[in-house]
Amino acid sequence: MTESANPRLIEQLRAVVGPAGLVTQPQAQAAYTRDWLGKWQGQVPVVVRPANTAETAAVVRVCRAEHTPIVTQGGNTGMSGGATPDGSGAQVIVATTRMNRIRAVDSVNNTLTVDAGVVLAHAQQAAREAGRFFPLSLGAEGSCTVGGNLATNAGGIGVLRYGNMRDLVLGLEVVLPDGRIWNGLRGLRKDNTGYDLRGLFVGSEGTLGIITGAVLKLFARPTARATAWVGANDLGALVNLLAGLRARCGERLVAFEMMSAAALALVLAHVADTRAPVAGASAFHALIEFADTESQGLQQMLEDALVQATEDGLVGEGAVVAASQAHAASFWKLREGISQAQVRAGPVVKHDIALPISALPAFVRQADSAVHAATAAAGVAAQVINFGHVGDGNLHYNVLLPAGLAPTAVKENTLRLNRVVHDLVAHYEGSISAEHGVGQLRRDELRRYKSPVEMDLMLAIKRALDPNLIMNPGKLL
Ligand code: FAD
Ligand code: MLT
Ligand code: ZN
Repeated sequence: MTESANPRLIEQLRAVVGPAGLVTQPQAQAAYTRDWLGKWQGQVPVVVRPANTAETAAVVRVCRAEHTPIVTQGGNTGMSGGATPDGSGAQVIVATTRMNRIRAVDSVNNTLTVDAGVVLAHAQQAAREAGRFFPLSLGAEGSCTVGGNLATNAGGIGVLRYGNMRDLVLGLEVVLPDGRIWNGLRGLRKDNTGYDLRGLFVGSEGTLGIITGAVLKLFARPTARATAWVGANDLGALVNLLAGLRARCGERLVAFEMMSAAALALVLAHVADTRAPVAGASAFHALIEFADTESQGLQQMLEDALVQATEDGLVGEGAVVAASQAHAASFWKLREGISQAQVRAGPVVKHDIALPISALPAFVRQADSAVHAATAAAGVAAQVINFGHVGDGNLHYNVLLPAGLAPTAVKENTLRLNRVVHDLVAHYEGSISAEHGVGQLRRDELRRYKSPVEMDLMLAIKRALDPNLIMNPGKLL
């Protein structure tokens, strides 16, 4: 607890959530006050862990009366600093992870209703146990929460087939900044009764309220999967391969992930028990997955499509179709190891961008040479680590700076490289924040690239819902 902690605030919060719902010791708070990447460190008098929606609403009413800003936190896996409080010691974290009930499964309506603190992998498991499928999937699924996924409009590996979190939710329950509860937990696929309130909270990053429950869409559970690793000499060939697979195999294509040779090399160097799936030095690699509810012929379909792609000159140095689940898992280990490998390798300037898929090859060519020129002029030995969800146009176009570079130099180079990359994204009419959210990382960048009209509309919504500005100040807007 910080010295400036307001004892009246803590006592009122204790009266709401009981001693088990408060984290007051600094050592125990450490897991909440620092983000996953280790980029931001905040300070709080207390972490509050309400057990249900009613307690959450009471917590918000106390904070509002005490003029205390709230930083909502789920699994704390976000990559934009959205869930990390500032260093003032005046904000409190409201952590949702005690709200972890699967509320209902309706296999006729194909819906799953959950508390917002349910871990994504548990939601997937609940769907599986009901003979259904919940498709959101990402590297942090063992610890991120459904509430965090909604608040960041998370994407991940299945967006090309199933959409992002915005597309996967039918209803929400939200505690508003004034402490009222909005019960919008409707499992409807048609509901034209006015403004899209649900849509407002998706991607709002804790700035408009605390999501406490959600009705999620379920899908038929695929019973067959086929996975391939493909090398390509240039990105143009990879996006043409993607287009060809889509045209030929339609919705069976459920993932098309790309990693550059440098991204693969980084994983091989920093993650244990990994090896390159194919020999040869392709400039880009694709991890391709097909899935279907019909188990016959899927592997053959993928193999035939890759034979055709090879004849069309789209495959570079080798392609391999996984011979077993373990073989496929070894491909996914490479893809999912990139985030961890970057953290181990040194300071990373992250860019989470979206572009029309057709623009990716030209963008990457221009960005590579602009980044190279900018870092060479600054005398920094930087390396582009480019990977991402090419199937939906989302690149993690990251730049690795030398390990041990002084923090001021990291900051200067970050600003320089953000400008180079984001200006080019703007030129291609792309987005500077595809799936990780704006948080505190891209707040200034947002103001630079969003039109004044869009910023005004967003600020008007913020002021209407949160006039006292207690929900996650300093983030997003
Ligand atoms: P937190 O980090 O706790 O919070 C994120 C934001 O949401 C904050 O602004 C917070 O205030 C707000 N928030 C959290 N819960 C609520 C709530 N109940 N109500 C209101 N606001 C709330 N993201 C992707 O989209 N795609 C990926 O492929 C992907 N891969 C990742 C891989 C790794 C290894 C890691 C560490 C992260 C990855 N992420 C990815 C980022 C992250 O996992 C997602 O953004 C995730 O959705 C965050 O969920 P969380 O519960 O951890 O949220
Ligand atoms: C991923 O797709 O692996 C994460 O979203 C990216 C990251 O670590 O930047
Ligand atoms: Zn991603």
